[in-house]
Amino acid sequence: MIKLHDKQFEPYLSEEQIQDAVKKVAAEVARDYKDKVPIFVGVLNGAFMFVADFLKHYPHPCEVTFVKLSSYRGLTSTGIVRNLLDVSENIEGRSIIILEDIIDTGRTLQELIHLFSNTNIKDFKIASLFYKSEVYNGEYAIDYFGLEIPNKFIVGYGLDYLELGRNLKEVYQLKENPMINLVLFGKPGAGKGTQAEFLKEKYSLIHISTGDVFRRNIKNGTELGNLAKSYMDQGELVPDEVTINMLRDEVEQNPEASGFIFDGFPRTTAQAEALDNLLESKGMKINATVALEAEDEILLQRLLERGKTSGRSDDQDESKIRNRFVEYNQKTAPLKEFYSAQEKFHSVNGVGEIQEIAERLVQVIDSLSTE
Ligand code: IMP
Ligand code: MG
Repeated sequence: MIKLHDKQFEPYLSEEQIQDAVKKVAAEVARDYKDKVPIFVGVLNGAFMFVADFLKHYPHPCEVTFVKLSSYRGLTSTGIVRNLLDVSENIEGRSIIILEDIIDTGRTLQELIHLFSNTNIKDFKIASLFYKSEVYNGEYAIDYFGLEIPNKFIVGYGLDYLELGRNLKEVYQLKENPMINLVLFGKPGAGKGTQAEFLKEKYSLIHISTGDVFRRNIKNGTELGNLAKSYMDQGELVPDEVTINMLRDEVEQNPEASGFIFDGFPRTTAQAEALDNLLESKGMKINATVALEAEDEILLQRLLERGKTSGRSDDQDESKIRNRFVEYNQKTAPLKEFYSAQEKFHSVNGVGEIQEIAERLVQVIDSLSTE
């Protein structure tokens, strides 16, 4: 397993499998072109390794040049193909054979065909090392290809993910982890913030703390922020619909997220239902609701201790703290029921070393993905 930027990739094709595919393409082309002197046109950047190895296996006279095109950014084709370099050779009456690393949607290929359409070349062929036949939309039949591969993102052997991975000798496939969406509960002092920070790192999750989302929207004067503020200014509760729309924005702003931690929302069953609906509309769901639990007396001591250094007045007054516990119990009880009914409620012992508690959370989460 390797990690490039934020994504993990697992071994897919060995050096030997790749070389066999290269040899196969070279042999097929050689068979058809042994009596001609073709011009091979490598498509930069991805095809540089393929071109180099292909030429080593091509036994007959030939020429080589390159064009630079690109339609990819990250994991998906943008649909924008830019031609960054022109073929300058005199190609009239010649046989052109495009050497591509991979044919995906076929947009790049279309552009290449266009590039050569007004020339007086003798013939035009495509040789691609990899071919994603499931997604290819073109009418042009691929003349030569090394390996037909499924529609999964790959890196290595010239192919990149955001420019990384081109130097790998083997080809790796994107590891598609199932999304992990969590709701985090915990009384004041339970260590929610600390553990959210840890989970965020460990599972590359996005932490959506409703309080932060509110403050940011209001500060930035977004439409939803202003709307929320108008209720608050009149001393009214912000309607759930406004809050859920803010959360929708957060989710939509992170289309490639591996998952989210919802913190501070839902607080009522109605909100839990609204969250389920929002996620369902995105093909997502809550995988687990985790409550960090500790006895009130322990939390009380922690908060009083914290209050001494943090200066937070609400952490210094025992009766205020106890009120917050009561409020939590009242609010969370129905939610506990709601998520238990979906078999998603997990209680985690929040007493012990931070590291120990983190391990308990990992146990819960890792047992989810195998379900
Ligand atoms: P197309 O224009 O959609 O056929 O995409 C072709 C170009 O997209 C290739 O030349 C690559 O640069 C890039 N590409 C397509 N699929 C992958 C992949 O799985 N990994 C890395 N790059 C890819
Ligand atoms: Mg390419």
